[in-house]
Amino acid sequence: MARAAALPPSRLSPTLPLLSLLLLQLRETGAQDMQVQVLPEVQGQMGNTVELPCHLLPHTQDVNVTQVTWHRLNGVSVAAFHPNFGTHFPNQQASQERLAFVRAGQGAKTNLYDATLAIRDLRLEDEGNYTCEFATFPKGTRSGVTWLRVLAQPQNHAEAQEVTLSLDPVPVARCVSVGGRPAAQITWISALDGEARDSQEPGLQPGTVTVTSRYTMVPLGRTDGVKITCKVDHESFQEPMLLPVTLSVRYPPEVSISGYDDNWYLGRSEATLHCDVRSNPEPTGYDWSTPSGTFPASAVVKGPQLLVHSVDRLVNTTFICTVTNAVGTGRAEQVVLVRDTPQASSRDAGPLVWGAVGGVLLVLLLLAGGSIAFLLLRRRRRRKSPGGAGGGSGGRDGDRGSNDGKTQMFGNGGPVFWTPTAPGPLRPDGKEEEEEEEEEEEKPEEGLMLPPSSSLKDDMESHLDGSLISRRAVYV
Ligand SMILES: *[C@@H]1O[C@H](CO)[C@@H](O)[C@H](O)[C@H]1NC(C)=O
Ligand SMILES: *[C@@H]1O[C@H](CO)[C@@H](O)[C@H](O)[C@H]1NC(C)=O
Ligand SMILES: *[C@@H]1O[C@H](CO)[C@@H](O)[C@H](O)[C@H]1NC(C)=O
Repeated sequence: MARAAALPPSRLSPTLPLLSLLLLQLRETGAQDMQVQVLPEVQGQMGNTVELPCHLLPHTQDVNVTQVTWHRLNGVSVAAFHPNFGTHFPNQQASQERLAFVRAGQGAKTNLYDATLAIRDLRLEDEGNYTCEFATFPKGTRSGVTWLRVLAQPQNHAEAQEVTLSLDPVPVARCVSVGGRPAAQITWISALDGEARDSQEPGLQPGTVTVTSRYTMVPLGRTDGVKITCKVDHESFQEPMLLPVTLSVRYPPEVSISGYDDNWYLGRSEATLHCDVRSNPEPTGYDWSTPSGTFPASAVVKGPQLLVHSVDRLVNTTFICTVTNAVGTGRAEQVVLVRDTPQASSRDAGPLVWGAVGGVLLVLLLLAGGSIAFLLLRRRRRRKSPGGAGGGSGGRDGDRGSNDGKTQMFGNGGPVFWTPTAPGPLRPDGKEEEEEEEEEEEKPEEGLMLPPSSSLKDDMESHLDGSLISRRAVYV
């Protein structure tokens, strides 16, 4: 068997010293031993032109090339060149116009040492192992093998699948890579905990594969509008292709009521409640009502807004805002307490505002002091930080106090009862949102990572939570 000096793939750098030693040896014996240089693997794209390089080395007067041939590993002859008889492509019809020797036979005698073969309009059936063989006088034959791989670049697209809120996982986005060879790799970049479900089918062109990946998850209201990205990897790409998708989840209205400041008194003018809604699709209607069924004449409804021009005893009730969209219905309640006299408006608002400002300042001071202490401590020694974890759980307890049941406390005052009447699934959604809020509120405290005294920590917590302050100020 003749020796083939296949060009090494450049990635094998660790073996480089060994290889150069080998090449040195080959060069020394080169006068005697001729060899064929080919690439071990060549990739071409379907429909494109590809070249299979093949060189006989070294160029020397002692040897005459008498014939160059290319054949498949199974023995089928592909192309031949003879200095006197010219080129020959055995499989005439199919091959002749697609095959060509790039330099052999073009004048200069040294071109005989270059058997590089060009294949145009690459087809699937061209894939295989090709042997390039030089017949020489008087040294005999030398050959090398190249693996020609035929790739097809896939066409990719991705889109959201519009889904409706449910408790079961469903495909929420689809990413399709059409007609790749080999099959493309699809992954999803997403902060959501969905999973990809892939399927493959033959592409239109023989030998190609169409890959479909469906991003599957439980569709919750809060995932509506979230952006995720489909990433398609393929050998024919310089870099992976990124396809953004915006999820679309239809869900019934999530309703809350704002605008109640816990200071509605007889004769007050221009008191308003606002019905705040998140939903997909948009709400089709708002309905304000009271549990008793009688609606106070002094209250005027303007879509999501409830206007009371002059507060009277009839307004001393609970208002319910019911919102409907194509998927379902959601509602929220607001208890309105009508007082006989204003609740110390100017006297109380002042301390409230100044208390909040003072609280913020105190937190800032503590943050600054804490960072200094932290830096000083860190300089001295590295320690595990149980202080951070402790602060986090303390904050959580504080939040529970204000989040118990379904009552949500808002910084500006009164309780809002959030009671969705949508089909089941809303409830887990709501719960998870509460948990998320808790986690978010923990973060600033974890960020402190202080090792301060426990009394310091207690102080911070009671002031960090703005709702706690305002609640005391309002109710006590
Ligand atoms: C190679 O061919 C040329 C003529 O084409 C001839 O003069 C020369 O002697 C040949 N060399 C060998 C080594 O056969
Ligand atoms: C060509 O040869 C390589 C290496 O020996 C092998 O891995 C590959 O499967 C072969 N390809 C074909 C199409 O036979
Ligand atoms: C409103 O109703 C509450 C009880 O629900 C009552 O204590 C209060 O006095 C009422 N306010 C007025 C102005 O009647």
